[in-house]
Amino acid sequence: MAVTRTFSIIKPDATRRNLTGAVTKMLEEAGLRVVASKRLQLSQEQAEGFYAVHKERPFFGELVSFMTSGPVVVQVLEGEDAVKRNRDIMGATNPKDAAEGTIRKELAESIEANTVHGSDSEENAAIEIDFFFKADEIVG
Ligand code: TYD
Repeated sequence: MAVTRTFSIIKPDATRRNLTGAVTKMLEEAGLRVVASKRLQLSQEQAEGFYAVHKERPFFGELVSFMTSGPVVVQVLEGEDAVKRNRDIMGATNPKDAAEGTIRKELAESIEANTVHGSDSEENAAIEIDFFFKADEIVG
């Protein structure tokens, strides 16, 4: 299986509860390596741009307001089949539906405050990595 990259966000509900390390530990234990990381406060424009695919959905306004409600940690993760590996350890979008041992089952508060974002395809991973990182900020 090829070593690939994916993009992750540790969301404001997790930074607020001081869970950056706990989330990162679960990612690392799942076989992913953090090859870039920075903590930042998303602007309204950044959050709207990042989630543009959801702009017609009823939850869009609340999602943008949640994602700008506190700091996030954006990361590039590397590992074998990184996109799927990360989606597996994240768990289902709604923590009520997430499998035991996943980040969202163990740590998420609600479908909105669900602790982590992870790219859903290799194509989107490349776009999302580009959205937040310059090439020289990623050190494999
Ligand atoms: P989505 O891409 O469907 O899920 P995932 O993050 O698992 O890839 O949705 C993006 C985010 O939008 C999701 O993490 C949380 C938020 N969201 C809601 O607030 N309410 C909802 O009903 C859905 C489907 C998503």
